[in-house]
Amino acid sequence: MDRYAVIGHPIKHSKSPLIHTAFARQTRQDLRYEALLAPLDGFSATVESFRTTGGRGVNVTAPFKLAACVTATRLTARAEAAGAVNTLTFNGDIIVGDNTDGVGLVRDLTVNLFCPLAGRRVLLLGAGGAARGVVLPLLQGKPTSLTVINRTVSRAHELRTSFARHAGQISFTAGGYDDLDGWDFDIVINATSASLENEAPPLPDGFFAPNAFAYDMMYGAGDTPFLATARAQGVTRLADGLGMLVEQAAESFALWRGVRPNSAPVLSWLRRKLTSSP
Ligand code: ATR
Repeated sequence: MDRYAVIGHPIKHSKSPLIHTAFARQTRQDLRYEALLAPLDGFSATVESFRTTGGRGVNVTAPFKLAACVTATRLTARAEAAGAVNTLTFNGDIIVGDNTDGVGLVRDLTVNLFCPLAGRRVLLLGAGGAARGVVLPLLQGKPTSLTVINRTVSRAHELRTSFARHAGQISFTAGGYDDLDGWDFDIVINATSASLENEAPPLPDGFFAPNAFAYDMMYGAGDTPFLATARAQGVTRLADGLGMLVEQAAESFALWRGVRPNSAPVLSWLRRKLTSSP
């Protein structure tokens, strides 16, 4: 039986084994998917031991997405641009590093949530690893503009500089929260880790355009602090990142197995589990 795993620290909370096992059942693929806890200084040793004992590939979660870039012997263009890897595929001695997070976000937005990027003004909050992972696929969706805002303004500018060559005709700008005054946006995506501290990013009032969409890459049983802020500002089209989680998994599964699972039933099953658990 082919073996796959997700590696992180911590790892007990990971939903990837549930998702991939559901995909395997649905597509009748004979595989086993497990969760592996790697010591903080032992990511590459954990990958090597899994690979040399017959593992076919792994997903990578916090805090190892940067380390996985180094472990990979080859990077896809989107992983190289992101500077982060969430999927490793083992082909003999070659370890291919890819990043399916951004495609997962764009698929969730455009296919599941009927929120196209083309022609829209998109605001991305945050300039850390999570934001870097989604910039290229967002630009490839051809929005009218992409604005990156970060608490530490210099990081937003650095992110802009490193992706500027991919922007083409798209107005691609960066700044801090104070620069948002007087602007409004059609799609606002929260890629900060503020929710982990139970905080929302420090957003001014009035920057959601009429009929705007608010998307939080984090997820939870109820509204995240960012989604609660958006709702309080009158936004009615909102989503958290559970769909992105399922879609990035579907993309990894398709890379590994050559078959694309139907993500919709798995997403609604996970949503039910999330909202019914105490
Ligand atoms: P990740 O890999 O999850 O992106 P990260 O690289 O540590 O983690 O980045 C966290 C992001 O969330 C950063 O953009 C951070 O802003 P700074 O660069 O200024 O640190 C942002 N962030 C974290 N807590 C925040 C808060 N309370 N308000 C606004 N932004 C926050």
